[in-house]
Amino acid sequence: MKTHTLLMPLDMHLHLRDAVMLENVAPLSAYSYSGALVMPNLVPPVATLDDVQAYKQRIMAAVPNDYFEPYMTLFYKNYDKAFLESVVDDILALKLYPAGITTNSEGGVSSFDIEEMRPTLQAMSDLGMPLCVHGETDGFVMDREAEFMSIYENLASSFPKLKIIMEHITTKAAVEMLDKYENLYATITVHHLLLTLDDVVGGMMQPHLFCKPIAKRPEDLDALLSVALQAHPKVMFGSDSAPHPQHKKESCGCAAGVFSAPISLQLLCEIFDQYGKLDNLQAFVSDNAQNIYGICPEFKEVVLAQRPFVVPQNYSGVVPMYAGETLNWAIESVE
Ligand code: DOR
Ligand code: ZN
Repeated sequence: MKTHTLLMPLDMHLHLRDAVMLENVAPLSAYSYSGALVMPNLVPPVATLDDVQAYKQRIMAAVPNDYFEPYMTLFYKNYDKAFLESVVDDILALKLYPAGITTNSEGGVSSFDIEEMRPTLQAMSDLGMPLCVHGETDGFVMDREAEFMSIYENLASSFPKLKIIMEHITTKAAVEMLDKYENLYATITVHHLLLTLDDVVGGMMQPHLFCKPIAKRPEDLDALLSVALQAHPKVMFGSDSAPHPQHKKESCGCAAGVFSAPISLQLLCEIFDQYGKLDNLQAFVSDNAQNIYGICPEFKEVVLAQRPFVVPQNYSGVVPMYAGETLNWAIESVE
């Protein structure tokens, strides 16, 4: 049986939620990942030092014995330098949401006026705090990410020492930005390495594949695959696994978010193997993130095997991506 070993897998964009949902989903990521960058879009958002510390404790309490490091983020607002200095040791990055663009982002940024943001972004740059960005405008849904590129350019050129991570990129336009600015990086989800808009709404509508940003065109998928499969050093894995209760997905007014946490490593193995690039998966799913963020996760070894794995229909009331379908790779052991 063909196997593949991954060391210290990292999920650099993860929604763990809170309370019962947190208790249900955190162990699934903690099982196979060494650590994850935890998104702050709770209600209310994670926006103070107390919020960060208390949330981290709740995450640690929800995770069983296995070792798992929650790398914390703070919900971006135009904070002053003194405040940022007070949180620098407790967070790995700030996460910027345009106001109202996705789940629980109402308190996000409504103006990308560089002068308004300058004190915060300059302080972050000075303190070495990366800026993670949900890069979508409020334009036509298929164009939102491409329209955001001029904002990325403005941010990247105005703050050349600030590390800016284009989160969950979905377009060729975003891929092309990577080599244009030294300080731009990106995360890519596993679902955006598999889906186009056709898979979401081309046949019967698939609520469990609906997310923001929406999956795009075949040429976008090809561009994402090309940088992920070569493990471009400025690209890292971030699942954007975003659990919602089943009734919020299978409803009129479907919540955005794909729940992939329990199957993401298996799917990544399947994709990289299919293209003969398994040797690059380690960099995509861990080494690049370690270099970009300067983190050093605790040892974890995950062995995957090429054998059928039927995706469960449901994880405590949350329907995963590809529920009921058979994947070609399974997790064999974790140490
Ligand atoms: O589809 C999404 N769901 N995109 C996001 O940016 C947020 C996420 C969520 O929190 O549900
Ligand atoms: Zn997200």
